[in-house]
Amino acid sequence: METNTKATDDGRKIVLSGIRATGNLHLGNYYGALSKFVRMQDDYDCRYFVADLHALTTHPDPKMLHENVKDILAEYLAAGLDPEKNTIYVQSDVPEISEMYLLMNMHVGIGELMRTASFKDKARKALGIGTPAEGEDEEGIERQIIGNQTNQRVNAGLLTYPTLMAVDILIHHADFVPVGKDQEQHLELTRRFARRFNSFYKTQYFGEPVNFNFGGSAVKVPGLDGSGKMGKSEGNCIYLIDDEKTLRKKVMRAVTDEGPKVPNQEVSEPIRNLFTLMELVSTPDTLEHFKNAYADCSIRYGDLKKQLAEDILKTTLPIRERILDIRNNDEYISKVVRQGAEKAREAAAKTLRDVREIMGIKKF
Ligand code: ADP
Ligand code: TRP
Repeated sequence: METNTKATDDGRKIVLSGIRATGNLHLGNYYGALSKFVRMQDDYDCRYFVADLHALTTHPDPKMLHENVKDILAEYLAAGLDPEKNTIYVQSDVPEISEMYLLMNMHVGIGELMRTASFKDKARKALGIGTPAEGEDEEGIERQIIGNQTNQRVNAGLLTYPTLMAVDILIHHADFVPVGKDQEQHLELTRRFARRFNSFYKTQYFGEPVNFNFGGSAVKVPGLDGSGKMGKSEGNCIYLIDDEKTLRKKVMRAVTDEGPKVPNQEVSEPIRNLFTLMELVSTPDTLEHFKNAYADCSIRYGDLKKQLAEDILKTTLPIRERILDIRNNDEYISKVVRQGAEKAREAAAKTLRDVREIMGIKKF
């Protein structure tokens, strides 16, 4: 059996990533993930999917799930992913993933899953437990999750989310997994599960995939509400699909502060966030201009926001137009994912065959 398959037949490294089908994509998704997908497509063997099974962990309305999947596919294509260069597919179209998820779960500990930040966060929300105060005993939170007496439930799919994500990655023997900073813990678990599988079965079958940031560090796109990251559930997003008026309004409403009082004053978090956004969308000269204006106290936040909105629109408006166009073309979207699923299944079926064999499952 071929082990530790680390590249395609043509020697290119394998890239794998996905985004959950839980709503339209925002600037966090774009700069944290999708723009990297696009930049990587010419140099690597890229496989990008829509994580609809992962979306089930938070119980989407069944009527909406398929629409959400279509939204993300249209957004992938509109952002510039070329279906001829990449394998683009829907997670549930590859049933091999679900089978390998069951097999991999045999090597995953419930303790390590319970300690995962994203699980604790979602479990806390499901049970209505508030966020812990700084320094609060994390184990206390785990006990609260297990011992909760409410009629709320934390589903097991949420707990085993990292297993499914590890399988998404390992079933393709991916080398690189372009994701935002918040996903790095899941990637760390993926590597741990791969190592554990290898050592348990005394094999070198799986490699250890890593994030990819073009030599920089992982991106965290801030929200417009003064703190934290931009996220669907935080209600602080600028969406790729936002029209011009909506987008300008959102940016003009961004939280700021009273303005610098003395030269070279330390920059507060809300303003730092606006500079971070500017770093992503504006030219270095523009950013420097506003940073200098902050330093000498001449900055006017209204001007800063106007410029920021302008520069965001330069990126998002052309994408928005293409989204609207592609979203109405069901035939095209179906063709792309049917072709993608076929290719993805071929790779996945081979890995699953190997994994079954390594684990001792034999056909009569
Ligand atoms: P959300 O947090 O809005 O629910 P997802 O969890 O579906 O978004 O994230 C999809 C991808 O987008 C992941 O690779 C994630 O790391 C990235 N991402 C999401 N929000 C941000 C952000 N604010 N900054 C950087 N990357 C992000
Ligand atoms: N967990 C990722 C997110 O919330 C989505 C995801 C599922 C993923 N499987 C993956 C990302 C595999 C990269 C690789 O965004």
